[in-house]
Amino acid sequence: MPAIEEVTSTAFMNAKHTDHNEQFIIRGLREADHLTISLVAEVEVTHTIVGHIAVSPLTITDGSENWYGLGPISVLPQYQGNGVGSSFIKGASADLQSRHAAGCFVLGNPKYYTHFGFKAYPSLQLPGVPPEFFMALTWRKPTPIGTVSYHRAFEPST
Ligand SMILES: CC(C)(COP(=O)(O)OP(=O)(O)OC[C@H]1O[C@@H](n2cnc3c(N)ncnc32)[C@H](O)[C@@H]1OP(=O)(O)O)[C@@H](O)C(=O)NCCC(=O)NCCS
Repeated sequence: MPAIEEVTSTAFMNAKHTDHNEQFIIRGLREADHLTISLVAEVEVTHTIVGHIAVSPLTITDGSENWYGLGPISVLPQYQGNGVGSSFIKGASADLQSRHAAGCFVLGNPKYYTHFGFKAYPSLQLPGVPPEFFMALTWRKPTPIGTVSYHRAFEPST
């Protein structure tokens, strides 16, 4: 969907820690039928899309099921700081809980995501990522133990 891809590439234009491939990740997830949740934020009057969150299933080496990854999350720069990102995270979390998800992961700045209850778990790693930047929100016990893999749409293109 071009509007979502455009919002995503614009939101990440000046972001840190990006390969600027987030719009292609969303396209890949959609094509692979792995885009579990896709929420947009629209300006009410014009119906212009100003933000988007993608949620996709991921796997854990211990075989735990019903785990998801939040992201990419995008809000156009001129609309940031107004609570849109927070609404996305809360809305996606509520949606996942209604689907009986066990929990979800996010990769990003702990200063932001810990506001929503995300925390790093020593038993769960994403290869190549410093542990404090890879956080989970858990809704079921026990917490899994293992290495997490996102869908191959997240793999850097060559
Ligand atoms: C991250 C993002 C989605 C947040 O959306 P938003 O609508 O601005 O978020 P909110 O208005 O709900 O929250 C704003 C708060 O989060 C903080 N914040 C926003 N982005 C942050 C970041 N990347 N790291 C740390 N804090 C951040 C702001 O300082 C603000 O804090 P305050 O309320 O104490 O002033 C948005 O900034 C964005 O699209 N960034 C570029 C893309 C990106 O980095 N996405 C996240 C990685 S997947």
